[in-house]
Amino acid sequence: MAILVTGGAGFIGSHTCVELLDKDYEVVVVDNLSNSSEKSIERIKEITKKDLKFYKADILDKKALKDVFEQESIDACIHFAGLKAVGESVEKPWEYYHNNISGTLNLLEVMKEYGVKDIIFSSSATVYGTPQFVPITEKCPKGQCTNPYGWTKSMLEQILIDIQAADNEYNVILLRYFNPIGAHKSGLIGEDPKGIPNNLMPYITQVAVGKLDKLGVFGDDYDTPDGTGVRDYIHVCDLAKGHVAAISKLKEKCGLKTYNLGTGVGYSVLDIIKNFEKANGVKIPYEIKARRAGDIDKCYADASLAKKELGWQAQYGIYDMCKDSFNWQIKNPNGFED
Ligand code: NAD
Ligand code: UD1
Repeated sequence: MAILVTGGAGFIGSHTCVELLDKDYEVVVVDNLSNSSEKSIERIKEITKKDLKFYKADILDKKALKDVFEQESIDACIHFAGLKAVGESVEKPWEYYHNNISGTLNLLEVMKEYGVKDIIFSSSATVYGTPQFVPITEKCPKGQCTNPYGWTKSMLEQILIDIQAADNEYNVILLRYFNPIGAHKSGLIGEDPKGIPNNLMPYITQVAVGKLDKLGVFGDDYDTPDGTGVRDYIHVCDLAKGHVAAISKLKEKCGLKTYNLGTGVGYSVLDIIKNFEKANGVKIPYEIKARRAGDIDKCYADASLAKKELGWQAQYGIYDMCKDSFNWQIKNPNGFED
């Protein structure tokens, strides 16, 4: 069974390719490398000792996509390709809506043309906006997103829901990720943000290796036990395994399904700093700063539906997440160094 993995050179995509190859799936990656490096493809092969097909192509380029479907016998698609920087999306909504929405529409049109009706979509807990309750179940109503990136996820979910309703031979799984961190144990693949990281863990790892001076903690007056923001951090390898479980679900002809992929445990920013220091024996200097616009106080999953229906549950705890994040950063201080 050949799986098309769009955005497969990226952070979550590369880890998912490893898990798919480990389970003997054929993998075809399409990525324009706008936020990744071809080196990650080589590293996936190194880790798994297996081969995969790689097409450097843009999902905005319909002809290129068609060429891939012409040459490969695609059975299902895991669709990661997209732009994901929240702050940038506020400054460049044109680019974000064009890349994420038009790109996905292209992909869906080409899939339709080639009769491919199984798709897993990378969504985000961001679609819950300020969640009405925590832990967040899939029944929690979607909310107001605070940025164009979040809206692209919310809108794309709706587009996929409408397509599945129009043709119930479609099997669509919307996976809402919480906060992926960590890296493959080998330290060969991991998150490689461009410029100064916006997200917490890559910022911490860069402080830990001395690339950045100190961490700014965005607010200590939230409605949380220590006042700092609480999130559900999930090891990227667990997240990747969630996709393999979702592929099995597609094979059952599941129709439309939505799952939260999180651990169900919330950690504050200060918890993460403490755990990181303990796991890695390093000090993370930090200072409390003002709240970051758009941030919410707490966001963590009820992931019991994925456990019940996918037979999937996160295995790694915060210790491994901190250790593996640091291991990747130490071994690759400048990421893939392109
Ligand atoms: P990433 O940037 O590392 O990976 C995305 C990949 O898509 C990159 O390799 C990039 O080059 C590629 N890409 C972007 N636009 C493309 C296009 N037009 N054509 C072809 N390739 C294109 O990001 P990630 O962290 O691996 O995230 C993967 C998916 O999961 C994204 O859709 C993201 O929005 C979603 N997501 C990520 C997080 C997170 O915290 N990392 C959380 C929730 C959802
Ligand atoms: C952010 C995005 C979300 C996206 C996710 C993964 C916002 C509002 N949300 O989630 O849409 O899906 O990234 O890309 O941007 N923090 C600090 N100092 C830092 C960085 C972060 O204190 O330098 C805090 C934040 O305030 C937050 C927590 O750490 O409480 C996690 O932040 P981050 O890693 O950016 O993820 P989210 O904000 O949860």
